[in-house]
Amino acid sequence: MGSLNTGTNNIADRNTPLIRNCWYVLDWSHDVKSKLKNRMVLNQDLVYFRTKSGEVTALQNRCAHRCFPLHKSTLHTNDTIQCGYHGLTYNVDGECVQIPSAMNINPSFISIQKYIIVERKPMIWIWTGDPEKADEDLIPDYDWINDDQWGYGSGFYHVKGNYLAIHENLMDITHFQYLHGAALGTPKHAEAQIEVTVEGNTVNNYRLNEGEPVPELHKEASGLGNVPITRHAHSTFVTPGFHNAIALFEDKEGTNNGRVEYSPRILHFITPETQYTSLYWWMFARDFSVPDKNLDDWYTKVTGKVFEEDKDAIEWIEDLWVKDERPNFIENNVPSDGGAVKMRKIIHQLSLQESNDS
Ligand code: FES
Ligand SMILES: [Fe+2]
Repeated sequence: MGSLNTGTNNIADRNTPLIRNCWYVLDWSHDVKSKLKNRMVLNQDLVYFRTKSGEVTALQNRCAHRCFPLHKSTLHTNDTIQCGYHGLTYNVDGECVQIPSAMNINPSFISIQKYIIVERKPMIWIWTGDPEKADEDLIPDYDWINDDQWGYGSGFYHVKGNYLAIHENLMDITHFQYLHGAALGTPKHAEAQIEVTVEGNTVNNYRLNEGEPVPELHKEASGLGNVPITRHAHSTFVTPGFHNAIALFEDKEGTNNGRVEYSPRILHFITPETQYTSLYWWMFARDFSVPDKNLDDWYTKVTGKVFEEDKDAIEWIEDLWVKDERPNFIENNVPSDGGAVKMRKIIHQLSLQESNDS
């Protein structure tokens, strides 16, 4: 087979400008209280908190007077933030409501940016792009996770790498065998047939493995042990901020009281922090052994280790991009990169569109 390289002109890479017109996760719902928090999202520093009425407010974390970071300031009981430098005070809409050194003037000529926030438990979403385009229907639907028939483990990582590296990692799960061999590999997993489908800006990879055992991670929890199964896996790039992974273990023999299907699903929420650092939340759900809450903790711990291997890989790669002086280095594509390359072309287009629009 000849070279599969696609060139780099029409596909996004780690230097491609970030996509602003997209919903991204800001935080877990349960981690935002009536206390000032600080986080950088798409190169913009934010201060955010939960108001007395229970809504989440996110504002620019930079006082409009002399740039003091507002998360190091005071949150008053009436939901105003008083800057810790000269005392300018902002309301939940980012409007200045008081200038202590000039109580006789109307402070409304000063304001800071307020961001659009939507809470869809257990996550809080932010829109940093054109407010006119902030359509809430574009937030991915994962409400099923709140249903009792699903149990899940979850975690968060700060990753020192561009967000596309996380998407790339998820779009080619050939890496299960080599990066997570002990937990997720099975002898023929890397040789699966792969089918890539594109619908609009969504790219799905479907992999099929026949006659392999359940990966080690799920052997006990599923009760399938070493029974040979059919393993279906869908990894889907949904938006620049979200990747959806749905697996299905099919035991045609019905070893456990006739049960045929077992489904692990992973929600991956990916938010660029800066061009070369990312915020990454994951929820590893299962529809087997659900009432076992100890198992939720176990999955949090064990899959957390698996995702740490991904984080390490991405950070080692980023490190090489930064340090290794090899100006002519090009990445070679192999067939299993088909979905990832399509995803990178879509991101390239989205980025181009945004720069043309602005
Ligand atoms: S910098 Fe905030 S009040 Fe002066
Ligand atoms: Fe992985």
